[in-house]
Amino acid sequence: MTTFAVFDSKPYDRASLGPAAESKGVTLKFYEFRLEPETVALVHDVDGVCVFVNDRIDARVVAGLREAGVGLLALRCAGFNNVDLDACHEAGLTVCRVPAYSPYAVAEHAVALLMALNRKVAKAHNRVHELNFSLNGLVGFDLNGRTAGIVGTGRIGQVTAEILSGFGMTILLTDPYPNQEWADEHGFRYVDLDELAANSDVMSLHTPLTPETLHIVDGDLLKKVKRGIYIINVSRGALVDTKALIKALKKGRVGGVALDVYEEEEGVFFEDHSDHILHDDTLARLLTFHNVVITAHQAFLTEEALTDIADVTSENMRRFAAGEELLDGTVL
Ligand code: NAI
Repeated sequence: MTTFAVFDSKPYDRASLGPAAESKGVTLKFYEFRLEPETVALVHDVDGVCVFVNDRIDARVVAGLREAGVGLLALRCAGFNNVDLDACHEAGLTVCRVPAYSPYAVAEHAVALLMALNRKVAKAHNRVHELNFSLNGLVGFDLNGRTAGIVGTGRIGQVTAEILSGFGMTILLTDPYPNQEWADEHGFRYVDLDELAANSDVMSLHTPLTPETLHIVDGDLLKKVKRGIYIINVSRGALVDTKALIKALKKGRVGGVALDVYEEEEGVFFEDHSDHILHDDTLARLLTFHNVVITAHQAFLTEEALTDIADVTSENMRRFAAGEELLDGTVL
């Protein structure tokens, strides 16, 4: 019998991954807590483990997994910045991910956040429920005719650019590996990051988190942005230097921010902390701005994306157990 331990699992994981794995003869043990150095000792009698974005797979965890005889680390997400890949490779631990689940899920959420921010949807919704039907403070702007800058034109960045183009926005792009044919086909233009920041009304981040992209939006870049810019981040929190962002918000240089990710989200996002004290003063400050919209890493959360993730992950579990090659492009 093939068994995998699934960490940081939520009801929606159980509902999608459970039946998919069962249909392939894989048994899953679901744990609600995260896989990290403090919990790795609990891994036993499994062929592999399945983790998500905030499990922390550092060298200690890799050593613990090998000690427990684990052969496959299956990430049920695209990003892998939380995994010490060198340690995995050295230990002979196979690592796979789901590189290309519905990019529409994530791109559409980026656009939902932009619309909510610009048209003050959350604020208006709360007001109406208090029988306050005033419109004061709810002025947005037409996206039509404005400029959107897309940082990172992979799968998700491309879908976001195409959606925003549908609103009648001019699209600027930046990427060290430009997809010129696609850009030409749509009439989009590649520029460098500084030019994009200086000319965009909306800047949306769609790069992976790597040493090169860590704090790609830092104090320096924030000095060069078009005044009043909206910044959207549905990729990884640490693409943005949050303290510098707060300064730019206070100065009015940044006109609004919409985040689905936050650099210190581990241990906070995905959980109900409503009866706890929030210890993160930076997050607390962010939450005080009327022009900041935050969701807790839910861009992937559509039926289609969950189905894609469950299918790829469970198929890889089955293949691994059968000694077959894993799905093309999923091995890191
Ligand atoms: P992808 O690999 O298709 O595209 C990433 C693009 O970023 C590539 O074209 C790459 O050349 C570009 N890039 C790399 N360094 C750059 C730099 N310094 N400046 C500009 N561009 C750069 O990845 P995909 O599928 O589009 O996903 C992007 C990211 O979105 C993932 O790495 C992940 O972190 C995040 N994500 C977030 C989710 C959420 O639920 N919030 C869900 C899924 C992905």
